Amino acid sequence: MSNDTPTDKEDGVTRYVYVNGAYRRYDEAQIHAEDRGFQFADAVYEVCEIHDHAIVDEDRHLARLERSLGELGIAMPMRQKAFQAVLQETVRRNRVANGIVYLQVSRGAGPRNFYFDGVETPPTVVCLARSQSRRGMEAGAAKGIAVKSMPDMRWGRCDIKTVMLLPASLAKESARAEGAQEAWFLDAEGNVREGGSSNAWIITPDDKLVTPPATNAILRGITRTTLIDLLEREGLTLEERPFTIEEAQNAREAFITSASNLVMPVVSVDGRPIGNGHPGSLTERLRAAFHEVAQKRQLA
Ligand code: PDD
Repeated sequence: MSNDTPTDKEDGVTRYVYVNGAYRRYDEAQIHAEDRGFQFADAVYEVCEIHDHAIVDEDRHLARLERSLGELGIAMPMRQKAFQAVLQETVRRNRVANGIVYLQVSRGAGPRNFYFDGVETPPTVVCLARSQSRRGMEAGAAKGIAVKSMPDMRWGRCDIKTVMLLPASLAKESARAEGAQEAWFLDAEGNVREGGSSNAWIITPDDKLVTPPATNAILRGITRTTLIDLLEREGLTLEERPFTIEEAQNAREAFITSASNLVMPVVSVDGRPIGNGHPGSLTERLRAAFHEVAQKRQLA
């Protein structure tokens, strides 16, 4: 996927990291050895796209961050406006015109304790940004990706965007070992839930867009939400319902959505080509139109 395969010299370079109120050089940025994010995955995060010097859908990302923190009973470490300032300054210091900005908040640090009362510090806040070349991303989207399905081994609250990403990491590695760039998680009935780090979509033979409902079993993706706005604008029909691998394999088109890959065509599912095995035309249209509806806060 585009963020895994840097194509430009600038790709993937982070110069400065925001840690708890200060901007540190990348090599010198540190957090506590007993941070609960490290020991318990007791942390949440957001990834926002940076597009032509603008942060995309920042309000929605920060609202979801606040919700994730609330679900875990972690206090908001700063106001939304302060988060905006941190995101902006991190992007500026890292000279990112196109790429991503990553924001993570953990409950804090203290002697290891399953109970929260061991926490001795305020929440740990980390923010970093890195470039992704537009050329590389578009070249990836022109090819599309293969997906591989597998059982969902994650917990029951995937609606909370925690850093508990080991099952997703293992799933994506195992997909990659079979030549696929994304894993699709299946529930016990064989329905597709979502990808390892993206939401899953198909387009039916009669041009309806289908994506699984945003239950506690999946993340309500911001790209998914903004794409739903676009579908309304375009007069396209949305069905939020489960679909199986078999339905996906017989779909007209398929794609995934995420802040780092936007609308990314899926060209095969478990080795079976979707449509003619090339990115679908409606998917490409939606990818091209996405930024017309997304919120953009211009930074430079
Ligand atoms: N992943 N589902 C999962 C499990 C995800 O990890 C993500 C995002 C999404 C899409 O959400 P959004 O459209 O808000 O990016 C769905 C991010 C990009 C990541 O972990 O890198």
